Amino acid sequence: MRGIILAGGAGTRLHPLTQVISKQLLPVYDKPMVYYPLSTLMLAGIREILLITTPEDSANFVRLLGDGKQWGLSIQYAVQPKPEGLAQAFIIGREFCRGEPVALVLGDNIFHGAGLTTLLYSAAARTSGATVFGYRVHDPQRFGIVEFDATGKVLSVEEKPNAPRSDWALTGLYFFDGRVSDFAAGLKPSRRGELEITALMELYLQRGELQVERLGRGITWFDTGTHEALLDAATFIRLIEQRQKLKIACLEEIALQQGFLSEAQFRGLLATLKQSAYREYLAGLLE
Ligand code: TTP
Repeated sequence: MRGIILAGGAGTRLHPLTQVISKQLLPVYDKPMVYYPLSTLMLAGIREILLITTPEDSANFVRLLGDGKQWGLSIQYAVQPKPEGLAQAFIIGREFCRGEPVALVLGDNIFHGAGLTTLLYSAAARTSGATVFGYRVHDPQRFGIVEFDATGKVLSVEEKPNAPRSDWALTGLYFFDGRVSDFAAGLKPSRRGELEITALMELYLQRGELQVERLGRGITWFDTGTHEALLDAATFIRLIEQRQKLKIACLEEIALQQGFLSEAQFRGLLATLKQSAYREYLAGLLE
């Protein structure tokens, strides 16, 4: 399975913070925001990654992440000239996808918690259909919303409904099968002028091939698009990291755990890092 990180967008809600820097490069406590969605893909076992950014921000992402080899990954880059919708990722990424199953994660989404890796692995193991993730929210009007029946069967998906049929929001993580680029190519822009990810889901729903996994109370999800959400996410990460003495979204650690890097490669990587608390943490993993 391959993975796409969509890290374009205007980030207007975070102005002036995002006037000269991409939202997804802003700090979330001790790491750039993009580390978190990248770690989510890695936890799903995904190593082939396409990062889609704005033309202005692309060079900074390349400076930060490079070709991904240092973490045993392959990271390629593409640009989205304008934020014309999440589903456009599969049109821009068509060649990258090669008609194979692909996961999409939004560059400003943070997932953390017990059982997450198992959920991700089982979604990645499905070779047909689509899997998306629902999370209960207080303000469903702000999100894509999924409705299901008592057996968990999906009944509808709707983008930012005025009268939501449930309080289950669709999070920014989606697994699609190899048809997704073809389906995306057939979409028409919505009333707000975007190629909607919910329209893509509807195509799978109509075929009875849309599965929703509900993220329960053991899992935390943040989208970090507002100042409050950004600060909440940073505070959460700091609290968990200090209590547990473990880092969240530490790419080097995950690469080692997942076997993307051997211990020797990990030691080699460590030798290239400058002295910092982050490096000390990594060194501690080998003790
Ligand atoms: P949004 O939060 O909807 O948009 P945004 O980041 O541009 O922020 P704002 O609303 O404040 O202007 O986007 C969610 C994520 O998806 C975010 O990481 C940006 C990304 N995105 C794209 O890369 N391209 C797109 O076409 C859209 C709609 C979003």
